[in-house]
Amino acid sequence: MNEQIIEEQKEYIEKVKELNKDKTLYYNILTMGCQLNENDSEKLAGMLEEMGYIETSDVENANLYLINTCCVRENAEEKLFGKLGELKNLKKKNNAIIAIGGCMMQEKHIQEKLRNSYPYVDIIFGTHTLHKLPEDMYKILNFPKKIEDILDIDGEIYEGIPIKRNSNKTASVTIMYGCNNFCSYCIVPYVRGRERSRTPENILKEIQELADEGYKEITLLGQNVNSYKGRENYGFAELLRDVQKIDGIEIIKFISPHPKDFTDDVIRAIKDCNKISRLIHLPLQSGSTEVLKKMNRKYSKEQFLELVGKIKKEIPNVLFSTDIIVGFPGETEEDFQDTLDVVTKVNFEQIFMFIYSRRVGTPGDKMENQIPEEIKHERFDRLKELFEKQVEENNKKYIGKTEKILVEGLSKTNEDMLTGRTNSNKVVVFEGSKDLIGKVIDVQITSEHKWYLKGKIIE
Ligand code: SAH
Ligand code: SF4
Ligand code: F3S
Repeated sequence: MNEQIIEEQKEYIEKVKELNKDKTLYYNILTMGCQLNENDSEKLAGMLEEMGYIETSDVENANLYLINTCCVRENAEEKLFGKLGELKNLKKKNNAIIAIGGCMMQEKHIQEKLRNSYPYVDIIFGTHTLHKLPEDMYKILNFPKKIEDILDIDGEIYEGIPIKRNSNKTASVTIMYGCNNFCSYCIVPYVRGRERSRTPENILKEIQELADEGYKEITLLGQNVNSYKGRENYGFAELLRDVQKIDGIEIIKFISPHPKDFTDDVIRAIKDCNKISRLIHLPLQSGSTEVLKKMNRKYSKEQFLELVGKIKKEIPNVLFSTDIIVGFPGETEEDFQDTLDVVTKVNFEQIFMFIYSRRVGTPGDKMENQIPEEIKHERFDRLKELFEKQVEENNKKYIGKTEKILVEGLSKTNEDMLTGRTNSNKVVVFEGSKDLIGKVIDVQITSEHKWYLKGKIIE
């Protein structure tokens, strides 16, 4: 049935293309949020290109502005409404279409606000109606009347949406949608619906095509990748082993796994598959068992440390990155010390740190003992300080080592140098010919500079 829906959308693509055939039209997409949203934007761009629109970074000249929103933290909201203010003035000049989609559009209070205070927004669509952009575009071009295309459902899977990828070397492949975990701070399960997995066949076909096109690195995406369920007896471990077999793909990454679902078969699959990155993202959120319980994370401090220990034992050279929230309701100084303790013990390569942000509709928002802003900030700074010390210490161990690196392009700060990332996601700059861009090469690290390393190519 969903195939038929996508076929219908392809007909709308043709109709819009026909309507626009004598015009040169530009679109501009602003993506907020995570890699899943980036991947969705690649699909939005894919559909727009097929409708005859051309991408531009020049907002002054766009005929269509599309914003793909996030609502995981409050600052995303401020950013959207700030942007809409700017677009209002631009619209007066060029009468462009304004379309907003993504996670924030699933929130009732946001829908209300847009309805009441932003009449100049033309199309509003949610996470479950992204594939209908062609139909929405066709309608707005024919009858200029505001469209609200949002569904409050568990969600479906649509295959075969056109895609325009951001890079021709690294690609993201969404393997599952939605989330069932309902961590008490998090809005994602409410805006992305329930967990649903793509079939292994569809995923492997997409990756095979990417390999045939010359992609070397792929990232498997999902809110909880290790709860992937392709079918009976085919989970994330089986998928990893099948992706490993695809010739041409040299580096496999995935985000995000949930510690509670990090089963032994997944650990074994990583161990057996040499293409899988040895940097594992393992979201901690808090180091305090008490806070973890209130967060509904389903593991304790000890269980997290045990899991890290087990993975380190099984997989030599493994490194970890993580997400941490400071200032969850009720977090005491002692709880925070537990977080610092885990950070010290695990020695993460990378930490994505967040200050707790109240999200309407989540259990966390209704909890008592919300932490005052200044304490949240003070804890954030202390965590950052501890981590930065660790970074400097860790960088030293790279010097003299040889790293396998996918050459991403020219260094942003020095066009004579090439840049890439180590297995552990550290930026490395080195001299070399532009012909190496897109290739995987050996680079020996020669010096460290806190946020990047320098190296030389080993012939
Ligand atoms: N599904 C993934 C990522 C979810 S969103 C996971 O479970 O790891 C990315 C990160 O944003 C989360 O890991 C969490 O650290 C952070 N986050 C989510 N909700 C938040 C909130 N209300 N306030 C602050 N940070 C939040
Ligand atoms: Fe949010 Fe938790 Fe789901 Fe991640 S696992 S998306 S943090 S509810
Ligand atoms: Fe944001 Fe939605 Fe991703 S809320 S973090 S864009 S799933």
